[in-house]
Amino acid sequence: MNRYVRPFAELLAPALGCDIETAQDGIAPPPKPGMGELGFACFALAKERRQAPPAIAAEVAAAAAESLSPGGPIAAIKAVGPYVNAFLDAPQVADEVVRTVFAEGEAFGRLDIGRGGAVPVDFSSPNIAKPFGIHHLRSTVIGHALVGLLEASGYRPIGINHIGDWGTQFGQLLAIWQDQGDEARLADEGIDYLLSLYVEFNRRKAEQPELQDRARACFKSLEDGEAESRRLWKLFRDVSLAEFERVYGLLGIRFDDVRGESFYEDLMAPVLAELQAGGLLTESEEATVVDLEEWDLGVALVRKRDGSTLYITRDLAAADYRRTTYDFTRSLYVVGGAQSLHFKQMKQILSLLGRDWADQIEHVPFGLMRFSDRKMSTRSGDIILLEAVLEQAVALARETILSGASDKGRPPPDGLDDLARQIGVGAVVFNDLKHRRARDVVFDWDEVLSFEGSTGPYLQYTAARIASMSDKFRDRFGWVPGEQPAGQGDDATDLARLDRPEELALCLALDGLPASLERAVRLCEPSLVADRLLDIAARFSTLYAQRDWKVISDDAATSGARMMLALATRRALVNGLGWLGIEVPARM
Ligand code: ARG
Repeated sequence: MNRYVRPFAELLAPALGCDIETAQDGIAPPPKPGMGELGFACFALAKERRQAPPAIAAEVAAAAAESLSPGGPIAAIKAVGPYVNAFLDAPQVADEVVRTVFAEGEAFGRLDIGRGGAVPVDFSSPNIAKPFGIHHLRSTVIGHALVGLLEASGYRPIGINHIGDWGTQFGQLLAIWQDQGDEARLADEGIDYLLSLYVEFNRRKAEQPELQDRARACFKSLEDGEAESRRLWKLFRDVSLAEFERVYGLLGIRFDDVRGESFYEDLMAPVLAELQAGGLLTESEEATVVDLEEWDLGVALVRKRDGSTLYITRDLAAADYRRTTYDFTRSLYVVGGAQSLHFKQMKQILSLLGRDWADQIEHVPFGLMRFSDRKMSTRSGDIILLEAVLEQAVALARETILSGASDKGRPPPDGLDDLARQIGVGAVVFNDLKHRRARDVVFDWDEVLSFEGSTGPYLQYTAARIASMSDKFRDRFGWVPGEQPAGQGDDATDLARLDRPEELALCLALDGLPASLERAVRLCEPSLVADRLLDIAARFSTLYAQRDWKVISDDAATSGARMMLALATRRALVNGLGWLGIEVPARM
């Protein structure tokens, strides 16, 4: 939680007669303000000793208080009902926490728990010749955030885009192309055109069974490397990748490794041979399968009758490839919950093959994204396109900025385009990340783009407002914390002036950032960092809303201390949002 948990646990342990870790695990923030900052509940101990919890709490508090050294950040230990609570000394906490943030700067909050371990993160991974749907948004955004969080924790993440560019559906596309393919239209309409060809194939295949056979033959020719099939397939691939690239550009995402499923074509034979040698394959009329009934995982289809391989076969080869290429400590797959069985089967087969690293593979599933209204018009019926959502968000952000400026009688701000992009895209990304990933997300335009409430724009705005405050501070006092030579400015600032309970609460929220990062990375749950940032911003806003709390006042010493606290808040927001893949405008 924060740096005071451990010292409190050290005081509690002897009084409780347990080890420090056990004491530490029982520490939580007290339920109500005014009850101290850290609390330990005595219910379990009371049950064990068959005593009333308040009586035990009184006993433990008295014993722990005995060994408390006076003048330290833990000012008092008291029993509050059934709890033993620690009361912290606000000025000392502020001094320690705010100085830590300033000393660490961009590194504030970062950890070294990863010790350089490689972690491939398979995310986004759209299918070529299919539109980049909103369902891929979650994988793209959550995966990108995990890359940032892993990096901030000292891991070496490798962002992998496992493009779906192989499989029998490309035979279908080639078959219909033979009848009506038009390269000029492809150049013009891109993926939309390819999608319309799929639709056409499916419409015609019922009345024209010959088409199905032709599709199979086309895929075979593709597998055999026939020149024209390859050329067209490559064209479909390039057209698709160029469209995906636009979305990645908007989101500011770069992958370390973009590798289509087609890459594993030649690597599948060895895996299949190994499965064969291990007696793991069962031939049926239709296909070759691995029987996983024993583990309640059904059967996994690894090869069709006509010899073509399947999604899972390519994933088995890809898993081996990642292992040999990266020697990973963890290997993540950010893919929707609908594919849970697929990943369970994959892991089970890998362990049957004796890959002792199979349990380092983690499927990171997530819920669906639903739209609360149909304001979005889409180009192709019901599929909501990610790019359209992002563009709409940017357009709405732009409108908001412009109307805000005109309300204040101001001209449009400099760098309007950039600002609108940062806010619009940040809003969509944060809306996705703030929910526990397993839950479904409802997308509501008004809520996503609001500058109030639990939104990206609210956090960006809080950070930007602090930057404007520091401009005013500079005008007034001629210096700004964080920019002074050693021994001056912030070093000389008396942070003991930060003695309000709300200031203490904010400092503790700041101090908890690394702990949130640690949990988020362990559980692959970016929302834990999102929650922490919202908590920090909310505590800052509470303070800021107090009528008698002004950063800039005639009292230069207090102003300096408050400006430092505000800038520490900004630093935490900027660092945390950065890990999540969200930019923060310098001014708003
Ligand atoms: N292309 C797949 C889809 O859109 C996702 C691929 C996920 N990654 C993997 N290694 N299976 O459903």
